[in-house]
Amino acid sequence: MSNAETLALDPAYVFHSWSAQGALKPLVVSGGQGSQVWDAEGRTFLDFSSQLVNVNIGYGHPRVVEAIQAQAAALATIGPATANHERGLAAQAILSKAPAGFAKVFFTNGGADANENAIRMARHVTGRDKVLSTYRSYHGNTGAAIVATGDWRRPAGNEYAVGHVHFFGPYLYRSEFWATTPEEESVRALHHLRRVIEAEGPATIAALLVESIPGTAGILMPPPGYLAGVRALCDEFGIVLITDEVMAGFGRTGEWLALDAFGYTPDLITFAKGVNSGYVPVGGVIISERISEFFDERVFPGGLTYSGHPLAMASIVAALDAMETEGIVANAKRIGAEVIAPALEKMASTYDVVGEVRGSGVFHAIELVSDRSARAPLDAATMAGIKSKLLERNLLPFVQENRIHVVPPCVVTDEEAHQGLAIIDDVLSTL
Ligand SMILES: Cc1ncc(COP(=O)(O)O)c(C=O)c1O
Repeated sequence: MSNAETLALDPAYVFHSWSAQGALKPLVVSGGQGSQVWDAEGRTFLDFSSQLVNVNIGYGHPRVVEAIQAQAAALATIGPATANHERGLAAQAILSKAPAGFAKVFFTNGGADANENAIRMARHVTGRDKVLSTYRSYHGNTGAAIVATGDWRRPAGNEYAVGHVHFFGPYLYRSEFWATTPEEESVRALHHLRRVIEAEGPATIAALLVESIPGTAGILMPPPGYLAGVRALCDEFGIVLITDEVMAGFGRTGEWLALDAFGYTPDLITFAKGVNSGYVPVGGVIISERISEFFDERVFPGGLTYSGHPLAMASIVAALDAMETEGIVANAKRIGAEVIAPALEKMASTYDVVGEVRGSGVFHAIELVSDRSARAPLDAATMAGIKSKLLERNLLPFVQENRIHVVPPCVVTDEEAHQGLAIIDDVLSTL
């Protein structure tokens, strides 16, 4: 197949996400290995996006591919009410990466429905309705998840769900609280959250839903004590704390779960993406003992035809095992600390257009500004130009608003990381 043959089919018949359909000219991708993908005519790109920040283990990992093939031959599909060995193994493997005190895993088809079901659990456990989440967040594109989302994708008028309230999380570079230090930002953001809880009425709030590190919103590293403070507020007011690890979890930050670096334990953890790198669509909720026990005697009113799909389960077992035995999470941590962070710091000290760099592991952001002292975000047209220049240089970037997110697969090599960073550096030098 040529690129032209694919482009004659796909935009003609496929309705694409988050786009006006008319002028779309999507990149043709027909193969991939490790951190590289290529089109139908052999042009190769270094993937610094991991697609939608999900291909943590890289493309074509042989162990995961073989596990899916073997499972397809043995049993390609089976309903969720059955007992399936791979499903048990997948849940056990996921729980082994969670903090102490977690008991069970509920499997979904992706991240949005993981949040959806976590919210439903919290509502049943508390008998309350409201869900608090931050303005700078993305939680998925289903009824409650899209309304919990704080960014522009949240539909006007809350037509899909009720009871969602938003607050500002910490973001020192653009502080809502006039803070000048991380410590100040943390204390003041927690004070703001306490006031929102009090004003809404604690007895009406079922859940607080937060990404440990807001991802699409800008890889916003929480300041010291913030997440532990959120945990303390949830304890004080009897609120279920749901941590969304869909993007940040399973290796991305150089930890198994991003929350591992922040010393707090939520009640429910939602996951998807990195758990099997999207080789088969899957997500889920890791459920604490307390909430799991609540549903021992009460029916959980929720389920999905493909919950715990055997192909997804086999891919999770293989992916987590490969990530462990091949030191893939450790690689993400080391590359982040030794290669990505120093290169980004250098860009920040060299180019005025770089306002701030931040992140951990293979989860970093470069925030671009037109005026450093005013911190004015670089405009959309210039960002689009940057994106095209990176693509021209065969780098697949993740560009979001005024930021370049540096999010290659966790398996990226030192050489590839240096190569991609040099391309970004080069493009920034032309601005
Ligand atoms: C933090 C977070 N939560 C939830 C989702 C939704 O996941 P999915 O697209 O698999 O439904 C995303 C997707 O980008 C995400 O980044």
